[in-house]
Amino acid sequence: MNKEAMKLRLDFNNMMANLIGEKGISEEDFAILEGKIEAAEKAMVEKRANGGMDWRDLPYNQDEIVEDIVDYVEANKDWVESFVVLGIGGSALGPIAVQQAINHPHWNELSKEKRKGYPKLYVVDNVDPEKLVALFDVIDLETSLFNVISKSGGTSETMSQFMIIKEKIENELGKDAVKKHIVATTDASKGTLRPIADEEGLKSYIIPAGVGGRFSELTPVGLLPAAMCGIDIKTLLEGAAYMDEICKIDNTFKNPAHMYGLLQYISMQQGKNISIVMAYADGLKFIADWYAQLWAESLGKKYDLDGNVVNVGQTPVKALGATDQHSQVQLYAEGPHDKVVLFMGVDKYRSEITIPEIYGDVPNLGFLGGATHNKLIHTEQMATEYALFKAEQTNMTLTVPEINEFTVGQILYLFEVATGFAGELMNINAFDQPGVEEGKNATYAMFGRPGYEEKKKELDARPEKKDKYII
Ligand code: PA5
Repeated sequence: MNKEAMKLRLDFNNMMANLIGEKGISEEDFAILEGKIEAAEKAMVEKRANGGMDWRDLPYNQDEIVEDIVDYVEANKDWVESFVVLGIGGSALGPIAVQQAINHPHWNELSKEKRKGYPKLYVVDNVDPEKLVALFDVIDLETSLFNVISKSGGTSETMSQFMIIKEKIENELGKDAVKKHIVATTDASKGTLRPIADEEGLKSYIIPAGVGGRFSELTPVGLLPAAMCGIDIKTLLEGAAYMDEICKIDNTFKNPAHMYGLLQYISMQQGKNISIVMAYADGLKFIADWYAQLWAESLGKKYDLDGNVVNVGQTPVKALGATDQHSQVQLYAEGPHDKVVLFMGVDKYRSEITIPEIYGDVPNLGFLGGATHNKLIHTEQMATEYALFKAEQTNMTLTVPEINEFTVGQILYLFEVATGFAGELMNINAFDQPGVEEGKNATYAMFGRPGYEEKKKELDARPEKKDKYII
């Protein structure tokens, strides 16, 4: 493969004031931040060297794990018809994003032969009872392999699913079947799932201690489900390694991940607190979903590193071109200048389809005849970009030469580094999630979990809801 030809390109012309007008970013904005940018560049290098960003080494230190996963998949794929991921947040969004990007859009509806012998993939990332019950209508327990993914093992959603599935397997297939039908992905030694997995004798994979949930897609969290669906995980990691080399460039103006973080940082200073990712490819739609968690959970913070209340962050929004041109673009063009749009385009789609040359005498249709949908979607992307440019709505474009393992690896890595760099500029901790913990703890307290009595008292002391506000 010609790696250079598969390199992602970030075009940020339409972020710049000298093109888009005064709503954009000026060279002076960059100049003012020179010291801050240098400090953030240095901090990225130091943090990595000091083990503060272990996810950056994932493209390089997993050869044995990859071999193990590939062997495990080979040993099991023949009997497995459905591979079911039980996980949530960082343990679910990555597996969905990668599978949706790389594989056939109707993967589960293909015959096993057309899936080249690999199983269907289901990701159960909610506790909506209707969804889990419905899953049992479409899978056969005998031919299902469940991958429980939880770093902490304390996540109620995932662990309750695990408890339901384990009991179901025991009841319907016998106690001994648990080992065959459940594989665990969790911390090496900490948390609730590790001792359970060991005691039950489950095959298990490790989420490295220094890698947080939303940065874990390139660990077995994402690698096992991907490999189980026939995705070439070695090339996925190679793509990430290739992007890592680019992200090591210590000049932010030549480093797309740092540049993306910087542009968003300045945009936030300008009051643009919405980050839209508009993919012009159905395959990339769920990358936008994965990005939403990465960006929101990492950068949405109340306190900065000095303990000041800052309440920062951008609200991520996912959009799909051309679909959302008929839904959201009106707002993007004419609504407030409070957002940055990232178009994600594709040079070469994996399929081509031509519009027939019929209705030549109907002016509204005739001009389409003989062109391809490939040309139409490209044109619509450029036209939407122009419309936003004209409306002085800041936007940039990340172009993916083609969607494949190598480019998806690059995309994941680029956004992860961009998130880390934006966190440095914002002077916040991009790697914790205290706001999520609060919700988790409140659930435990309401559910009567021992040890959460004080939290329950705190909750009970909240103001009572008034009937007049419920209509
Ligand atoms: O990014 C994160 O840390 C979170 O989104 C977690 O992935 C999510 O809460 C699930 O946690 P766990 O893997 O411990 O079940």
